[in-house]
Amino acid sequence: MMLGWTFAVGLSLRLSAADEHYPRYGCSKGYEHFPFCNSKLTVEERVEDLIQRLELNEKPLLMVARLAPLGNVSRLGIPQYDWGVNCIHGVQSRCGDGSRCPTSFAAPNLLGAAFNESAWWAMGHVIGVELRSLWKQGKGENHPPTQLPPLGLDCWSPNVNIVRDPRWGRNMETPSEDPFLVGRFGVQVSKGVQQGKDPSRLQAIVTLKHFAANELEGTWPGPGGPAQYPGTGMCPGQKCTRHTIDVNISAYDLASSYLAPFRSSVVDGGALGIMCSYNAINGYPSCANKWLLGKLRKDWGFQGYVSGDSGAVDDIYRSHWFAPSLEQAVVKAVEAGTDVQSAGWTHGQPWATANAEYLKCIPDLVRAGQLSEQAVDEALRHTLSLRFRLGLFDDPDQPYEHFSPEVVRSSSHVAAAIDSTEQGLVLLKNENGTLPLSGRITVIGPHATTRRELLGNYLGQICPGNQKEESFGCVENIYEALSNLSTDVTTAPGLPGIDADLDPKLLAEAVAAATAAQHVVLALGINAGSIEREGSDRHNITLPEGQLRLLDAIARVGRPVTVVLINGGIVAISPVKAKANAVVEAWYPGFFGARAIAGALLGKSNRWGKLPVTIYDETFTDDFDMLSFDMTKAPGRTYRYFTGKPLWPFGFGLSYTTFALSLQGPRSVTILQKGGTTKIPVQVRNTGPMDGDEVVMAYFRPAQGTLPAGSRAAKLRQQLFGFERVAVAHGQDAMLSFEVTAASLQVFTDAGDAVSYAGKYTVLLSTGNVDVAVDVTVVGKGKQPVLLEPWEPHQAIESLVV
Ligand SMILES: *[C@@H]1O[C@H](CO)[C@@H](O)[C@H](O)[C@H]1NC(C)=O
Ligand SMILES: *[C@@H]1O[C@H](CO)[C@@H](O)[C@H](O)[C@H]1NC(C)=O
Ligand SMILES: *[C@@H]1O[C@H](CO)[C@@H](O)[C@H](O)[C@H]1NC(C)=O
Ligand SMILES: *[C@@H]1O[C@H](CO)[C@@H](O)[C@H](O)[C@H]1NC(C)=O
Ligand SMILES: *[C@@H]1O[C@H](CO)[C@@H](O)[C@H](O)[C@H]1NC(C)=O
Ligand SMILES: *[C@@H]1O[C@H](CO)[C@@H](O)[C@H](O)[C@H]1NC(C)=O
Repeated sequence: MMLGWTFAVGLSLRLSAADEHYPRYGCSKGYEHFPFCNSKLTVEERVEDLIQRLELNEKPLLMVARLAPLGNVSRLGIPQYDWGVNCIHGVQSRCGDGSRCPTSFAAPNLLGAAFNESAWWAMGHVIGVELRSLWKQGKGENHPPTQLPPLGLDCWSPNVNIVRDPRWGRNMETPSEDPFLVGRFGVQVSKGVQQGKDPSRLQAIVTLKHFAANELEGTWPGPGGPAQYPGTGMCPGQKCTRHTIDVNISAYDLASSYLAPFRSSVVDGGALGIMCSYNAINGYPSCANKWLLGKLRKDWGFQGYVSGDSGAVDDIYRSHWFAPSLEQAVVKAVEAGTDVQSAGWTHGQPWATANAEYLKCIPDLVRAGQLSEQAVDEALRHTLSLRFRLGLFDDPDQPYEHFSPEVVRSSSHVAAAIDSTEQGLVLLKNENGTLPLSGRITVIGPHATTRRELLGNYLGQICPGNQKEESFGCVENIYEALSNLSTDVTTAPGLPGIDADLDPKLLAEAVAAATAAQHVVLALGINAGSIEREGSDRHNITLPEGQLRLLDAIARVGRPVTVVLINGGIVAISPVKAKANAVVEAWYPGFFGARAIAGALLGKSNRWGKLPVTIYDETFTDDFDMLSFDMTKAPGRTYRYFTGKPLWPFGFGLSYTTFALSLQGPRSVTILQKGGTTKIPVQVRNTGPMDGDEVVMAYFRPAQGTLPAGSRAAKLRQQLFGFERVAVAHGQDAMLSFEVTAASLQVFTDAGDAVSYAGKYTVLLSTGNVDVAVDVTVVGKGKQPVLLEPWEPHQAIESLVV
């Protein structure tokens, strides 16, 4: 292998401590004469001027993530810039000055359940503001060991991969199985993060991940290469992981499911970053896929940058055998449009990683004529224009520099996190008014007193203090939160741990506590760590055996039992559904989760969300092949295609009050396929005893015969195209209105084109419990569909050099 750049390798040995304050702005004194520092020129002119001043060896310094303290070109006064910090539900930073730690929201699956776009925007806004402040303070990312890069201003989030399969280890990071909902989440988080109080500059940048179809972690046995490679569906070494798998995906599923949230986030949300994924799709590793990365700019008007996932460039060669050498993997990545490389890192080493292949290989590859310098310059155009748009080459006296350290975990940010947390707990069962609770309560189960386990993954520093031994002592647990709101609460663990077997002594104590109480809150579930996590998938979706036995024993005591379930990916809980009197799906409810749960259980709030995912039963793992990414294959993935009977369906969720829907317009409407539009007005009436929130979801169902028989789209059962959350006082009502156009009812052809078919549809407005239906007829010319957005097919698989 060519070892291009000993200079960079040597310097890596002198990486300084993470907390060191690095210069953040270019064009400081002594450099301001460069034309690229002239803020009267356009960003394009400034970027071109800078690029033509860079020497070849300097270019890759600007193309590697987490390269502090390298990544600077001091000759031109350009400081290092750290591409990469995660912000999945809060900035993954260490605490700021004054012991102000970043605001941590509930995990995204709870946020999805809130069905509230303002709440998603609010989280994005909090992240953008806090990131600016923490970046200014020179804080580092929150990872062990201690030598960490300082923050940049681009978040490697949101995760807009859909929940394809409950076994996937990262379901907790994403809001839903529905591409429309995930897309709206991506739109609002992008706007909240990127657009702040200075309209002339970006506040920060999102990086949508993982583009695309990274909905499997590993390890699964599967068809191996390399002889057949690059045939599709292979996993070199026969071990399918996110690094090796080459997923088979039809144009239909790519367009309608896997790429759709990315498209919305870019087209409607203006997202300016994309992370290409480890996996390959139909023969092409994502970061070497010209078609996939080209589509971003060509079809969606993407104006941002693309980063590879950490180690993904390496994977092109080592895991996919798609290139004959690491150098050629670099050529393929740069030429495909992977503008920034995030190199893998070695445990215990300072992060980045002068070992980045971009640093080592690019100058020599260009000199040897194997990589065009134009491709390198194009990558620089993408990354540098964002740095200019962030204001990093302007006078630092800018609105975003005036965020004080007090904005971090400010009272308004805390209020936003609490507010959204309350909206995403889902009441699945409440037999005979078991809830709200009153009287003597005991809290039993492995999650009764957990703290860190309520939070999910990708955490910033949560409690101030020593980073080396991260503490979660400041996180309230469910027992404490109930005790704070109610006088008569006891607790008993019941089990030694989440995945532990019954322990007779602990069980006896729990039974005694249940016997002495009037209500039992049983806090069950899984965790983000030993059971579901990045890098591995679950192989079953049941509750751990010990918890099922605990449930049995406690249910036999005969007190009303409320199960509070803690999880990211769904848990098949038939026994809980049968034996508990009330069930609350609490996800990973986050830093303010325990108090939101306590408030809801005690009836102090009545907000509740709806399921953003289907809760399947235990047979799921027998019926679905983890390696199949075909959404339509029987019995069909997600509520859109599933023909079986779920334990609880997508969109389901109860309340302490009841709501009625009544249609305020005709039961049947006609719209023109071209330019036609109608509004369906509906009244939401709170007919029950309490004030409360309700969510109305708008779905469409193509009528039999509207779509061509035998097409993949004909398997679509229903599709969400709108939703609205409202607060309605008891006895009061609210009016909502859902706009319907031919585009709201769009479906996809087998070839991936977004189209409208003339014909009949049912539009269903639903609370998940009650619904009203309207017949919609789309009137057009004949049977041929109207093309709304063409799908440019992937080029034929190239024969390969391996
Ligand atoms: C980056 O900065 C360091 C000192 O902070 C300096 O030694 C090094 O030469 C700079 N690198 C470049 C490429 O300018
Ligand atoms: C993917 O498709 C190819 C070609 O149709 C087929 O040979 C292979 O078995 C499929 N792989 C999987 C995992 O479905
Ligand atoms: C509770 O409700 C169920 C129906 O959900 C009913 O069959 C049962 O009699 C009720 N039990 C009590 C104690 O009210
Ligand atoms: C206890 O409850 C009160 C009233 O709801 C609230 O203001 C306070 O923050 C809670 N304390 C803790 C530690 O959660
Ligand atoms: C389910 O998987 C867990 C590991 O996540 C394992 O401990 C448990 O034994 C499995 N349960 C069954 C029924 O296979
Ligand atoms: C939606 O979220 C916003 C922002 O958090 C909040 O102000 C609003 O009350 C929520 N809407 C409902 C109906 O809960």
